[in-house]
Amino acid sequence: MKKYFLSIALMVCILQTYADEGMWLPLLLGKQVYNDMVKKGLKLKADQLYSINHSSIKDAIIIFGGGCTGEIVSDQGLIFTNHHCGYDAIANASTVEHNYLHDGFFAKDKSAEIQSKLTVRFLNRIEDVTDRVMKELGNTSGMERAQKLIALQSAMVKEVTNGDEFKAAVVASFFKGNQYFLFVYDVYKDVRLVGNPPESIGKFGGDTDNWEWPRHTGDFSVFRVYMSQDGKPANYSTTNVPLKPKYYLPVSIKGFKDGDFCMLFGYPGGTNRYETSYGVALSTEINNPTLVKLRDMRLKYMFEEMKKDPAVKLQLASSYASIANYWKFYDGETKQLLKYDVFGQKQKAEQNFMAWAKGKTAYENIFTDYGKNYNEWRPYAMQAVYMREGIMGSPLLAYAASWNSLEQLLSSKDATKEAIEKAITHAKETRNNFLKEENKKSDQNILASVLMMFNTDIPKNQQPAGFYENLLKQCNSIEESPYKRYATDVFENTMAFDENKWNKFISNPTVAALQADPAYTTVMAFITNWKNNYASKQQVFINTNNDLGRLYMKGLFEADPIKMKNTYSDANFTMRVTYGNVKSYKPKDAVTYDDVCTLSGVVAKYVAGDYEFDLPAKFLDLYKAKDFGQYEDAQHKDIVVTFITTTDITGGNSGSPVMNANGELIGLAFDGNYEALSHKLAFDKDLNRTICVDVRYVLWCIDKLGGAKHIVDELKLVK
Ligand code: ARG
Repeated sequence: MKKYFLSIALMVCILQTYADEGMWLPLLLGKQVYNDMVKKGLKLKADQLYSINHSSIKDAIIIFGGGCTGEIVSDQGLIFTNHHCGYDAIANASTVEHNYLHDGFFAKDKSAEIQSKLTVRFLNRIEDVTDRVMKELGNTSGMERAQKLIALQSAMVKEVTNGDEFKAAVVASFFKGNQYFLFVYDVYKDVRLVGNPPESIGKFGGDTDNWEWPRHTGDFSVFRVYMSQDGKPANYSTTNVPLKPKYYLPVSIKGFKDGDFCMLFGYPGGTNRYETSYGVALSTEINNPTLVKLRDMRLKYMFEEMKKDPAVKLQLASSYASIANYWKFYDGETKQLLKYDVFGQKQKAEQNFMAWAKGKTAYENIFTDYGKNYNEWRPYAMQAVYMREGIMGSPLLAYAASWNSLEQLLSSKDATKEAIEKAITHAKETRNNFLKEENKKSDQNILASVLMMFNTDIPKNQQPAGFYENLLKQCNSIEESPYKRYATDVFENTMAFDENKWNKFISNPTVAALQADPAYTTVMAFITNWKNNYASKQQVFINTNNDLGRLYMKGLFEADPIKMKNTYSDANFTMRVTYGNVKSYKPKDAVTYDDVCTLSGVVAKYVAGDYEFDLPAKFLDLYKAKDFGQYEDAQHKDIVVTFITTTDITGGNSGSPVMNANGELIGLAFDGNYEALSHKLAFDKDLNRTICVDVRYVLWCIDKLGGAKHIVDELKLVK
């Protein structure tokens, strides 16, 4: 009996070790968290993770592009990140003749590396600016506080960046506005593509496998960051030299076993773990289903054109991938939120809080106020999603909306000739960029559909006045869809596609010409309706929510100071460390998922010529020959392609280095698992996993498949 109790106690302990919730600011790791890392296996000193006095792991971690993580892996500025993070740059470097996206690419030497539009950011310093921000914001609330904060943030950023284009800074809010930190970054703008596997490997499994484990995707790409000859961040130049980094990660090809310690540094974009039950209900009932429905439609029309023509496939690939990624995410999030009754969990937490708050005037009405705020916003929530994902989901309408600043300028009495000339030059550039990315066929269908869906889903009294009466009046044939006809008319008559009309406009830009353009009048009908009637309602909703959130967090700190002192703040795209174990899991009754996937598993999924599951012939040959080299995993006698860990990540972490107890790179995080897609709002301690590509698979692809051993030779390998 005693033994029985002991084993239950032991089991609880073990479960706890696997509950690896937490995205910690490396600067503020704290003794408790660091000690826990050591207890679980970490072999490094705290100042090897993060130090302001000497180089440490944090110096090897970068913000890659606009929303990913990358890491420096050689003394010559070599970067590893995900394939899906480099995707846009790879697609931009490709043509139908030299299709690097499709065929893969590895630069034979540095001179063959390809210039990109990407930038990377290194964290330079962090400063706690809570006192200053709180003092300046004082007791303000609502709109006043929101505006003050924006002004203060931009003033503080200016103070440190001082117009230097190679510096960036953010003043980020923690614990829902109870704490503020300033982050200063060095921005490097010469980033070149070094190599990537063929898309069939880098995106193997496509959207079918996306957000799922088991997974067989080789989701990596390789870049290099360059600096000026005198060692400073610089714009692209042929005279630049590879960056000499402060620190770079050694790479382990020794492998690991289920249960081994691991940690991961990176830039998680956003979570809302203290979301209320009201917020959960709004997501599952309105926001998510609306987004999914609109993206379903957009993806369908894009895919129809992409599969017909490789040029269109290249043109739309990157935009399609990002729309599809969060289409599946939000669909999965809804399902998991409902499955685990996250609404009920949040309600319970709120009831506990209310019990504590009873009689405390500052706090006791928080949830009544939350309820009121959500009820007031709810009737307009769907239109907000329609504006963002539907109206602005038509590339033509989103582009035409950019003419609005031109209209304002042209109708202003004080507009100078120079200002107008400058705006026209800018408008020409914007149009060229738009036309490069535009696929008219899919967009025309998207426009017709979104106009129809808006009319069906959005209450009549919220629609732009007269818009639908007019649209429907123009077509009363039962043979033809009025929406299709309207969209055809827009596409045939807008100056966006008509060189003659466009040239006439830019040689004599007038308000009248803009107001006669059907793409412009269409998008402005919706935007004006939104701005005049709903934008301020949304602002009030957001500001009130911010005020209540700040108070709720403050209350939680007061209610349980010890627990809250040892907690982490929600993700906000600042550098975090998370740690745990490589770990298998049970997704459902009677099913266990292994901690790794192998090359044999990739080949087992292979479908010749398939859009998502094809493989290059050389890949199959190497597999048949069992040519695994030094990258073979001793335990599995195979190449381990991917693995899962219990670490706590979210979007933005893509590309994050996964390290073993010695701080050696063992893989790159690239996804979360389906069973825990509710992770932004609630961490599931049993089911949450990070999906990682094994660095040995990365190196096998570079060396054996890509014939680029020289890239592997640049690394510090731990064998
Ligand atoms: N789910 C991955 C992430 O958000 C991105 C995968 C991209 N692949 C795709 N099939 N859309 O990090």
